[in-house]
Amino acid sequence: MLVIINPTHEQTSIQAARIVANQIRSKPRSVLGLSTGKTPLGLYGELIRCHREEGLDFSGVTTFNLDEYVGIPRDHPQSFYLQIHRNFLDQINIKQENTHIPDGSSSDIEATCIEYEQAIRDSGGIDLQILGIGRTGHIGFNEPTSSLASRTRLKTLSDETIQDNRKIGEDIPAVAITMGIGSILDARQLLMLASGNSKTTAVAKAIEGPITSSVSASALQLHPNVTVLLDEAAAAGLTHRGYYDRVVEQTSKYSPERLGLE
Ligand code: F6R
Repeated sequence: MLVIINPTHEQTSIQAARIVANQIRSKPRSVLGLSTGKTPLGLYGELIRCHREEGLDFSGVTTFNLDEYVGIPRDHPQSFYLQIHRNFLDQINIKQENTHIPDGSSSDIEATCIEYEQAIRDSGGIDLQILGIGRTGHIGFNEPTSSLASRTRLKTLSDETIQDNRKIGEDIPAVAITMGIGSILDARQLLMLASGNSKTTAVAKAIEGPITSSVSASALQLHPNVTVLLDEAAAAGLTHRGYYDRVVEQTSKYSPERLGLE
């Protein structure tokens, strides 16, 4: 796991965007896994800038979103469909038929989940998965005690998650469709971002704690290609801070592309 700590979240967003842009340039038909929430907004903003000012081309790119609330229509202000379209997909030259978001208004949730997994397989699998982390240590909406082998399915949200996401606006549903931890670990590369002191404890448990279903993000330790991008506040609970900085220094010499430098 490569842990990169930047002074600010803005720097993290720019560095994450370079990593994603390099992925798209090296494989124009890349399959990206997308997260919603506040954390990746700067990353999406920077990718939109790269598209407008540097011609970053999304025409061959396919996307799969991690999750969606159940029981609200796609045009509901809280829907992740609306969020990702407004904040990213509608501002780049991606083909709408190549964008995928679980259908939370489906009348057959189980079939929707099975079809979503199949669509990911049919696309050739996710090349690069963007992740945030919840206060509960969740990735996607895999709340504590989710199976580390879980696939896309219906999941009940924890009280903390409902409270955190409600801050953005009005009431949100208590259940969601989410890719499972097993589905996330199938991606070839994982890019997790976190910022702010509300994430300090979850980040420390995920990176340095035991692998446990009580902290879904700790499953990232099982994946061979993970980059975690943090600001100082999110990194404040890490005990191996000096080591992570030395690894980044050496990586800049030997594998600069992993830092988005080339
Ligand atoms: C969103 C998602 C969640 C968020 C997490 C952090 O699609 O899957 O895991 O990444 O809840 O949310 P923010 O970024 O709003 O703090």
